[in-house]
This record gives sequence, C-alpha cells and structure tokens, in this order.
Amino acid sequence: MTEHPPIPWSIFDNLPDPVLVLDRDRTIISANRAALDLFGRSVEGNDMALALRQPSAITVAEAALNGKHPKPAELSLYTGANQTFEICATPVPDAGAFRAVITLHDTTREKQAEDMRADFVANVSHELRSPLASLIGFVETLRGPAKDDREAQEKFLGIMHSEAERMARLIDDLLSLSKVEVDEHIQPRDQVSLSSLLRQVVDAMGVRANEKGMTVSLNMSANLPDVVGDEDQLTQVFQNLIDNAVKYGRPKSDINIEISVVDRVSGTAAPGVSVSIKDQGDGISEEHLSRLTERFYRVDKARSRELGGTGLGLAIVKHIIGRHRGWLEVDSEENIGSTFTVTLPVLEA
Ligand SMILES: Nc1ncnc2c1ncn2[C@@H]1O[C@H](COP(=O)(O)OP(=O)(O)O)[C@@H](O)[C@H]1O
Ligand SMILES: [Mg+2]
Repeated sequence: MTEHPPIPWSIFDNLPDPVLVLDRDRTIISANRAALDLFGRSVEGNDMALALRQPSAITVAEAALNGKHPKPAELSLYTGANQTFEICATPVPDAGAFRAVITLHDTTREKQAEDMRADFVANVSHELRSPLASLIGFVETLRGPAKDDREAQEKFLGIMHSEAERMARLIDDLLSLSKVEVDEHIQPRDQVSLSSLLRQVVDAMGVRANEKGMTVSLNMSANLPDVVGDEDQLTQVFQNLIDNAVKYGRPKSDINIEISVVDRVSGTAAPGVSVSIKDQGDGISEEHLSRLTERFYRVDKARSRELGGTGLGLAIVKHIIGRHRGWLEVDSEENIGSTFTVTLPVLEA
C-alpha cells in the first residue's frame, strides 16, 4: 500500500460551507475560510458560543462533544441580512473524549421559498374564505329572516352572484399562475403579431372602457416585426394591463396604447417590440412600485376588491413576460396616471 502524506487542514478552505472544529472543552480550534468569513477572523481560540450563539445550535454541538450523533438543527444568523443554516455536528474520538466537527449549510433560499409558499397558502385561504363567508351568511338570511321578503331576496342574490364570481375569478387566476409557472422554463416559439393581437384585445375590452366613458386609442408604427411568443399568454398580459388601466383610470379619461420598435430589449442585445399602456387616474406612489408584481399585493386592498380584482393580475403578467425573456417597466405618479411598458424580443429572421 502506498503511503499518502497527511492532508493539510487548508484543503477545507476550498469548501463553500463553513466548517469548525471544537476541542473537548468547547474551544474552536480550527475554522475554514468560509467559517472565518462568516464569524470573523477572531473566532478561533474562543468558546463555541461566540459562533453558534443560539441554544439549539449549542445543544447539537454539545451532543457531538458527548460522543453522540445529533440530528441537524437550524441556525439563524444576522449577517447584514437574515441567513439560515442547517448545522450538523459529528463526534471525533480523541484520547478518551470527543472533539466535534461542525458544518453549516446555507439554507436561506430554501427557507425563503418555504416561507413564501406558506404565505401564499395563507393568502389564498383568506381570499377564498371571505367571499365564502359572505355566501354562507346570505344563504342563512335567505332561509330565515328574509324568507318572505322578495325585495331583499333579489338584492341578496345579486350580492351572492358577484361573490361567487369573485371566487371563480380567483380560481381562474390561480390556475393561470400555476400553469405559467410550470411552463416558465419552456421558451415559447410561435410567431405573434402584436398589432393584431392588441386590436383584438382592445375590441374585446372596449365595451368596459366605454361604460366608464373612456376611450382606448391604439397607435403603432408601420411594418412592426412579429415577436416570439405564446399567443394566449400574451393576450392574457395585455388583457390584464388594459383591465387595470380601465379599472384604475379616471372616468372619461383616455387610455393610450403605443406599439413601437426598440433597438434592444433591456439586458440583451436583441431588438424588440415595446407596447406601452398609459392611463390617467389613480397612479401608484413610488414606495409601492417595486412590490406590484407580488402575488396578492395591492396598493389599496378595499378598492381592488370593490373593483373585482384578485391581486394576481400583475403576478401573472410578470411570469409570462419572464418566460418570454421580455421586460416590464412601470412609470407612475400618484393621482396622475401610470404607464406600463412591455418589451418583447422580435422573431429572428
Ligand atoms: N394602471 C394602474 N393604475 C393604478 N394602480 C394600478 C394599476 N395597475 C395596477 N395597479 C395597482 O397594482 C395592484 C396589483 O394589480 P393586479 O395584480 O392587476 O391586481 P388587481 O387588479 O386584481 O387589484 C392593484 O391592486 C393596484 O393597486
Ligand atoms: Mg388587475
């Protein structure tokens, strides 16, 4: 058998995960580079509590120093931002006692994804429960106090109808969102003419705009190139954006839609077609802009609900545009109006 020279400790400096070695008296005797970056240069020679800080992490390390193989624990550290680690401790026999090797694995992203999922489920349940509670309430009233009151019955059935429609819309939007998420990594390949797609969407939504006394104008440069896309999904994008412009625009104001060619889609070298939808109305103040595309985020929850919104429209828009390698930009001023601009890469010849 060939003899290998001993491996120097410095090899652990190449590991992305922080590693600490504890002596039997809990002193940190070695730390690899990732551990020094995380805990600071002065951590070696100190008691493990200086690094591990939280009782759950210290318990795991103590168990290993007692020769046990503990289950991993979670350690949250504030390092300028909140970071979460899974901490594992392994005993290493050492002349009748034990040292411990501690490894930390960064689980911040998994934790965030899990928190988002839990938040999302809570939001969905809440959004479904409120129309449902109202439906149950009216059913009870119709069976009891309003049993013989024709006028009240008419009124309550009207409300029940709109609450049921709200639930249906929410479920449609949730299904769209999950479908878009599933497809997100498949690049769309159809050839789509944005000018004819927008004409159709505007025709279909024109009635709603006219009810508010609003006009929708469509301006485009001649000879627009086609884009690469999924026709149904792009229709959904513009339906959502024009729907918002109608909902949040002032009665009797105008919505202007412009389609033009741009030299390059932001962040790429590819030329694109951009569609901007400009309304005059509520507008959105600066502090909300970065959060608009989050699921269920609304500037004014009551107003969105009253207008029949689900708070999912822009989340769907963002995912679809992401799938298309496109770009969404929002320009807005409170009480003046908003411009939502979508830029999509053109079909390469
Ligand atoms: N054109 C717009 N003008 C003003 N506010 C808007 C506009 N579009 C979207 N918003 C704001 O962004 C929020 C999220 O939009 P969206 O996801 O489409 O939800 P919803 O329309 O169902 O409320 C809206 O609730 C509204 O507060
Ligand atoms: Mg909307």
